[in-house]
Amino acid sequence: MMQVKNGLRFVGFGHYVPPRIVTNDDLSKIVDTNDEWITTRTGIKRRHFMEDEDTNLDLALNAAKMAIEDAGIDPQEIGAVVLATVRPDNMTPSVACMVQKALGLSEYTPSLDINAACSGFMYGLSVAAGFLMQSEKRYALVIGSETLSRVLDMTDRSTCILFGDGAGAAVIELSEKHRYFSVLGSRGNDDYLVIPNNSDKRYVRMSGGDVFKFAVSTVPRTVEELIAVSGNTAEDIDWFVCHQANKRIIELVAKRVGQSLDRFYMNLEDYGNTSSASIPIALSEMNQKGLLKEGMKLIAVGFGGGLTWGGAYIEL
Ligand code: UT7
Repeated sequence: MMQVKNGLRFVGFGHYVPPRIVTNDDLSKIVDTNDEWITTRTGIKRRHFMEDEDTNLDLALNAAKMAIEDAGIDPQEIGAVVLATVRPDNMTPSVACMVQKALGLSEYTPSLDINAACSGFMYGLSVAAGFLMQSEKRYALVIGSETLSRVLDMTDRSTCILFGDGAGAAVIELSEKHRYFSVLGSRGNDDYLVIPNNSDKRYVRMSGGDVFKFAVSTVPRTVEELIAVSGNTAEDIDWFVCHQANKRIIELVAKRVGQSLDRFYMNLEDYGNTSSASIPIALSEMNQKGLLKEGMKLIAVGFGGGLTWGGAYIEL
């Protein structure tokens, strides 16, 4: 369990998905699947896929600009750029470095990509808080940006129907008034969820059932740990924001935590699983819809390849 000693405040949110929508029916023309199977087993109806000429940087930059505008801050006050992704444009330069340049940030802005798979954004918040503790600048930009369509095997119906492209971002600052606790974990496993880097077929391979079991045990436990350490009861939490992988996972988490599904935000119907982008996209959408209010308490939890998991108790 980790606590950001000075607390942490979310100052602004942003998100971006590429315009092209791919429906379940579209996929059923490519692989042996159908809308009914995908909807009942996952809750997903459609996802966004980028065009060939689009880059991870394009997605990240759009989300970052929206977050900065929402925060209403001077970008020169940004003291770090942390970008979570499993599929950067290049191994180096990092997407984060290119975001730093494109936004015209000072050269003294530490910028790096991190990979904690679908937990990446939650890891990124803690990494960014660490930078801010050493920075003269007030804000950090944390982004989850994923180009998963580039690593999908479009002949594998068990994976290609699940994922989508997109990016989400948040501007954060350290704040004594806003307590922040996080639980970040890792359990080395190279069987359940792998995107290889050293073969011709650099596609997502996943043992869906095993990841499902991992998720429905780890996420409720993490939620309970965060409720306990923050001195709250489950009823005190206004919103639970889980990684958007599968509706059935979120339903089971709600059941195990003993709380109504109404307080578990869901948008996977429209985006599919966008890995590290799913939680910041959800937060930004909630913010746009006016669902986030000052004084609210949130718990957000991601899980995925690694295996990794990452949760946080957030005060708005
Ligand atoms: O962000 C990373 C985290 N990843 C996840 O959270 C994924 C977690 N896992 C899941 O969401 C689910 O396990 C899946 C949605 C991936 C799969 O659902 P499932 O209920 O576990 O199905 P299954 O893999 O056990 O497959 C059941 C059947 C199989 O047929 P048989 O062997 O029973 O005849 C599959 O071949 O469904 C078949 N199937 C499909 N049928 C139509 C698998 N994919 C499809 C498909 N369309 N797309």
